Amino acid sequence: MNQHSISVLVGDGEHKVTSNADRSLHRIITEDTDTVIDAPCGGKGKCGKCKLIVESGKVSEITDQERRLLSEHELERGVRLACLTYPRGDVEVRIRENSRAHIMVSGVEYDAEVLPNVRKTHVVLEKPDLADQRDDFTRLKDALGGANYHMPLKELYQLPATLRMDNYSVTAVHDRNYIITVETGDTTGKNYGIAVDIGTTTVVAYLIDLNTGKTLDAASGLNTQKSHGQDVISRINYTLQHDGGIEHLRKRIINQINSMIWDLSENSKIAIENIYSIALAGNTTMMHLAAGLPPGNIATVPFIPVAQNRMTFLADDLGFGIPKGASAYLLPSISGYVGADIVAATLSSGLYFGDAFSLLIDIGTNGEIVLGNRDGLLCCSTAAGPAFEGATIKHGVGGITGAINSVKLEDQKITYTTITDSRPVGICGSGIVDVMALLLQCGAVDDTGRMLGKDELSENSSCDIAPYLTESDDQPAVTLVDGAQTENGEAMLLTQKDVREIQLAKASIAAGIMTLVKRSGKQIQDIDVVYLAGGFGSFIDKKSAVRIGLIPAVLEDKIQVIGNAAGTGAVLSLISEACIAECDRIAKNAEYVELSSSPEFQDEYVNNMFFPIDD
Ligand code: FES
Repeated sequence: MNQHSISVLVGDGEHKVTSNADRSLHRIITEDTDTVIDAPCGGKGKCGKCKLIVESGKVSEITDQERRLLSEHELERGVRLACLTYPRGDVEVRIRENSRAHIMVSGVEYDAEVLPNVRKTHVVLEKPDLADQRDDFTRLKDALGGANYHMPLKELYQLPATLRMDNYSVTAVHDRNYIITVETGDTTGKNYGIAVDIGTTTVVAYLIDLNTGKTLDAASGLNTQKSHGQDVISRINYTLQHDGGIEHLRKRIINQINSMIWDLSENSKIAIENIYSIALAGNTTMMHLAAGLPPGNIATVPFIPVAQNRMTFLADDLGFGIPKGASAYLLPSISGYVGADIVAATLSSGLYFGDAFSLLIDIGTNGEIVLGNRDGLLCCSTAAGPAFEGATIKHGVGGITGAINSVKLEDQKITYTTITDSRPVGICGSGIVDVMALLLQCGAVDDTGRMLGKDELSENSSCDIAPYLTESDDQPAVTLVDGAQTENGEAMLLTQKDVREIQLAKASIAAGIMTLVKRSGKQIQDIDVVYLAGGFGSFIDKKSAVRIGLIPAVLEDKIQVIGNAAGTGAVLSLISEACIAECDRIAKNAEYVELSSSPEFQDEYVNNMFFPIDD
């Protein structure tokens, strides 16, 4: 079969690959390049987000589905959907630069005793002579003060030379009794680790000084597995439907983390040889994919992971490019859908050791919720879907440059802000919540979620939103930005269908909260503090969240934003062995509530489907 040359242009960069004509551009881009392309439905031709522009060359005919999902304006500009387009010769395509994502890196302040698992001990060994013929390893173990030390064979090979290089002055790098490596001289001042929060959408890596506990630098990017679907189910399906799918996704995330480690090391002028430990937090599926474990059973009843306890491996075995003996550990998960990221967030919020009755909400591609205090924890995961990450919203985008992140009606005009004040490219979660709140406030959406026509608006409404009401694909919609102001010249709308998606997502999270409250035997007003974690939670307007019924009104003044709490938890586990033990305790003791079989959840879901009516 003829091979075609495919050029993929991203910003100033170009990736060149060859392919035959029977693979879609989506497959070619995701399988043969490291480029990330939006593909919430995982390449099934349903979401309409995998847009690219064919700059030159011949491709397959436009499909009916593309005509449904793309506007005329887009089709005229050569926009196509990558998963429905096949090369028919040499082609050049351009995709949007996804790496301009604005990712929440910072988390809560922490104050933990710095006592990491991985420590360095400098010793000067007694020199051997005829009266003291102890072997090299015993001599080292004796100097370290214990007989139980062990080390990998590869390190043992180096030991004789290392000991003799600086007159028996060496530094042992050890994870408890396991000697990771032995270095010549006193290197105790250089002890570093990497903590990683692997989100389904974004990945953040932190470079940590294990002597001081300080975060030296952080790197972030969109999860490069994103091209295989927005949510964990799409990723799992990919592993089930493609031979080598697990390995492909594993390599994508490990390569991404390795390149982050290289960047962090270069920027901080810290040698990769001095990074001895890596801690990973993420949802249960992300943990499976990082370790190359088959996640298939998480997707089907009764949702069973391969392993959910904390797991420690040699970093080298997982493919990390740090010293071969270094350890990599995956923090424990609670269930198939409440993962190590929530355990880490619970750790960093501190809610598990205080008396305050606390609620932790992390809204990402799922909405995970933890409720309780030192007396016990309940948790659940709501299948909120990725509406708040923009995936199921017509003009929704993640938190990227140009995303509309806040919306208001000022002087009867819709005003908005965008990330980095760039031209609007779409609307992200916090903007979506604001628009929804605005539509409710102006009476343009009723409590059932129906969008009203212009002639149905109340004359008594305090805001005049009528000029913005329009139609799209025969359904009511509101215009947020007209075409003259957008990057692609197309008006940006929120449609009736979008409102339904938001309604389902907010009902799911609100019902999850109420189900846990009921299970706890307490009342919603008994909650003392609400921690909002994650990027979306950090930017959301609290009033808007309450206005749409995402969070009960009684909790509005109790909300505290804690940023990337999962990342902070991963850092804490790296610098404190006590915190690792706490993670294990949280994962073991938290009671998981399965919502899919919970009658309370079903009732609450129906109750919360309505939007609150303004008083
Ligand atoms: S339509 Fe192509 S990935 Fe969804």
